[in-house]
Amino acid sequence: MAGRIPQQFIDDLVSRVDIVDLIDGCVPLRKAGRDYAACCPFHEEKTPSFTVSRDKQFYHCFGCGAHGTAIGFLMAYEHLEFVEAINDLANRLGLDVPHEARAAEAPHHNLYEVLGHAADFFRRQLKDHSQAKRAVDYLKHRGLTGDIAAQFGIGYAPPGWDNLIKELGASGIPREELAHAGLIVEREDNKYYDRFRDRIMFPIRDTRGRVIGFGGRVLGEDTPKYLNSPETPLFHKGRELYGLYEACQATRRLDRLIVVEGYMDVVALAQFGISHAVATLGTATTKEHVEQLFRKTAEVVFCFDGDRAGREAAWRALENSLPAAREGRQTRFMFLPDGDDPDTLIRRDGKKKFEIRCAESVSLSAFFYESLCQQADTTSIDGRARLVELARPLLNKIPNGIFQHMMVEQLAELARTDADTVKRLVPGGAKAHPPAAATAIPGIRGTTRPSPVRAAIGCLLHQPSLALTVGSPVRLTSLEFPGVKLLVQMIELIQEQPHLNGAALLEHWRDSDDGRQLTKLARAPNLVPEAGLSAEFTGAIARLDDARKRQRFAELTSKVLLTSEEKIEIRRLHAEIGNHPG
Ligand code: UTP
Ligand code: MN
Repeated sequence: MAGRIPQQFIDDLVSRVDIVDLIDGCVPLRKAGRDYAACCPFHEEKTPSFTVSRDKQFYHCFGCGAHGTAIGFLMAYEHLEFVEAINDLANRLGLDVPHEARAAEAPHHNLYEVLGHAADFFRRQLKDHSQAKRAVDYLKHRGLTGDIAAQFGIGYAPPGWDNLIKELGASGIPREELAHAGLIVEREDNKYYDRFRDRIMFPIRDTRGRVIGFGGRVLGEDTPKYLNSPETPLFHKGRELYGLYEACQATRRLDRLIVVEGYMDVVALAQFGISHAVATLGTATTKEHVEQLFRKTAEVVFCFDGDRAGREAAWRALENSLPAAREGRQTRFMFLPDGDDPDTLIRRDGKKKFEIRCAESVSLSAFFYESLCQQADTTSIDGRARLVELARPLLNKIPNGIFQHMMVEQLAELARTDADTVKRLVPGGAKAHPPAAATAIPGIRGTTRPSPVRAAIGCLLHQPSLALTVGSPVRLTSLEFPGVKLLVQMIELIQEQPHLNGAALLEHWRDSDDGRQLTKLARAPNLVPEAGLSAEFTGAIARLDDARKRQRFAELTSKVLLTSEEKIEIRRLHAEIGNHPG
């Protein structure tokens, strides 16, 4: 596997693209004052509330809250992972993406190769092995065509304890590596044996198509019915979805993804033309799964058995979907008739009927309140109070925004109370979109005048070159204000790389708490006109310098014994502080 992309390259890349050109190529923009506007591509709307700022190199939708840099836009619009977005941007500029050589990742490199070799071996065995006919007959009996088996890379692990060990050992792969890849198991006497024997093999691929693990099904009735790869450095059951790579291959833009329970379900649906199904790997749906799904599509349909176990599994999936639920994303639930799974259903009823079922699936909000209302008798006051109590912690898991707001309103309606009362119980529910200008670096109160740290950072996001006017920022590190560390780091970064723009700064801190604070500041409307930015910045730094001097002055005056240098310093500070009314 390639090493990390150097941060410097990412910084430069983001500074070189123009977000207006980039987005205009996907969503035609028109000039609106200083910015550009369009109808938002991330939610349905008739009047444009999606704006793109050339100064800030940032987009923001006032309707649904979507926002980000050029990289963020590509990730959201094209459903790309971060690294894919970097590659895409670099491509547009005709640049090669450099990778750092990282010794620590070398073993992983081998694991992908090892698993790839194993997948090839299993596929060959389905054709060549003396027992292959049994496996092929089994697949035929399950109704699989050769085409679909090939598309999913289905193979066969023949009977025997050391087929894979011999095969891959012959090509020089050490046993430790095979064990590391989860393909063989070590016995107590330090001997090894093949993990998968006499099983139909389903390779599990990551979103880039690399094999990271396997599921193996017995041909008959043995147990366990399915044997999966163990957790390895590459394979984490709670994160991976079987069929996601194949679904992405089949359709460029996925309108929706259906989540089913089994390998065979995914394959059967694909065979009948529903190529956007994925399966969890014998585990409950996790938050990580949901995040993976919404990185690729805006609509997720969970498909479960109609029985009690299925409903319980659906509820767990719902709970883990709440943190990812927001406007512009849809989550729905589909329940199957007793005794059926998607595999049996599509083979019996065909694609059309399955699609109708899918279209009739219930929304997250309907399933949510239906389930809760079954636990609380809404004809009584007690019951309605209980409903509110049941819903409250769950609604708090939904990010602030219009979707949460609407869920709260619906709760108020069901509880027959006024929305304001309920909103007060759901923090943030009352203020769906807090005015961005009022949000603060943590710890700094939202005073009428922004704190100097926030003001300075805000200015830098608009006009990074201001950092070149302040000299070394190290002197500020002694200040114990929240956000100072970030400010100092920003100034240092820009002083080292003066060509960076605001978006590059945002990307530099991507996925960190600091980054989230920066994003909030970038979303804030321009309160200071461009011409005033320099004065605002200089003023903010002067206030910080002043605070620093006062802090030092207080420190020195509380000391009993002063060195002669300190006495000189105290006199100098006294004179300097006098110049600025504090
Ligand atoms: P099911 O038992 O519902 O089987 O398991 P299925 O998918 O319908 O399989 P077929 O049609 O009999 O071949 C659903 C999923 O749970 C996981 C597998 O991912 C399976 O696809 N599972 C099941 C295991 O991991 N181990 C098992 O022993 C059984
Ligand atoms: Mn089945």
